[in-house]
Amino acid sequence: MTADFDAKRQQAHGYEVIFTADATSRRFALDELAAAGVGARLIGWLAPEVGRAALTTSWDALVEHFRKQPPIFCRHIFPVHTVVPLQGEEADLDALAVAAGQLGSRVRPDEPFSVQTRILGEGWPYGPFDVNNRLAQVLVDAGGRLDVRQPVWALSVVLTREAAYLGFSRTADNLSDWAGGARRFRREEEQISRAEFKLLEALEVFNLKLPEAGLVLDLGAAPGGWTRLMIRQGLRVVAVDPADLHPALEQEPGVEHVRKLAQDYLPGLKRSFDIILNDMRIDAGESALLMRQAIDVLRPGGWGLMTLKLPKHTLIETMTDALESLRVEYDVLGVRQLFHNRSEVTVALRPHKP
Ligand SMILES: C[S@@+](CC[C@H](N)C(=O)[O-])C[C@H]1O[C@@H](n2cnc3c(N)ncnc32)[C@H](O)[C@@H]1O
Repeated sequence: MTADFDAKRQQAHGYEVIFTADATSRRFALDELAAAGVGARLIGWLAPEVGRAALTTSWDALVEHFRKQPPIFCRHIFPVHTVVPLQGEEADLDALAVAAGQLGSRVRPDEPFSVQTRILGEGWPYGPFDVNNRLAQVLVDAGGRLDVRQPVWALSVVLTREAAYLGFSRTADNLSDWAGGARRFRREEEQISRAEFKLLEALEVFNLKLPEAGLVLDLGAAPGGWTRLMIRQGLRVVAVDPADLHPALEQEPGVEHVRKLAQDYLPGLKRSFDIILNDMRIDAGESALLMRQAIDVLRPGGWGLMTLKLPKHTLIETMTDALESLRVEYDVLGVRQLFHNRSEVTVALRPHKP
């Protein structure tokens, strides 16, 4: 956004952002905004997981801060450039098209855009696709190039009963390429557990690359969703869990099911692994300690991915302690409460360079 454009915006509405977080962690997302040094103040919640906040400094200042210190709980954010009053009627689309037209001077033919609409509440006479299509056409007419798969820019639109909030920003600055950070995957017929979505999202968010072949240690593997995804990628898996794996995996030649607790399997282990996954439902501090112990069996160049299960009342303290423990052995590549995480965060790890 140009300084000139930002200045005009500020005169009109002040700086505003719309942000999302898991509804149960939204206060932590707000804390992240408050700690960003941009004078963030909550205006209100548009939905349990969608907040509207005012800033005293520009969007760019917030982007800069989040680039240096990526948030854990704030899932998606965009600057509000236009607010359009709504009637809940078809004619809203015309009003939105006019507003999009005013943002049209922002589009660049060499950097594709997409329109990402979220409609809050029920009973609307139009849906997100109608809004997306109508506004995308306006921006295409203004010289923009639409690419819904890999957009560089997003026209973000959130509709509430009273008003629509529109903002045009780089997807990289929005913290997620997906509307509201809601990364959805198509359900596959062979899917074993919902946890699979969590792993797919984590690989994408942390930009983790899977080797073409190799051995994975999956701690807390049952019923086996993560194991299945690794097998599908051509990797072999040692799946550690006292519980049963899905029958499809018990017959899978690439899977070795070790019916043990990780605490009993790891001591004295002589094998080595390319990747260590850990989705064990145990105390976060203990899980971190086991992950530290497992570093001895991680091959050079390998990485780890784990979830930290966090109790509601001591969430931040528990997470902070577990991360501090992990940092003794690992570089923490990223920590996020993903769209598919509930009372947990996902952590990507790489051993310190020797
Ligand atoms: C959330 S489930 C894992 C789901 C799995 N990632 C998937 O994709 O299907 C947690 C698992 O951790 C296992 N678990 C809990 N404590 C464990 C321990 N100490 N060692 C090994 N597994 C453990 C439980 O038996 C349970 O199957």
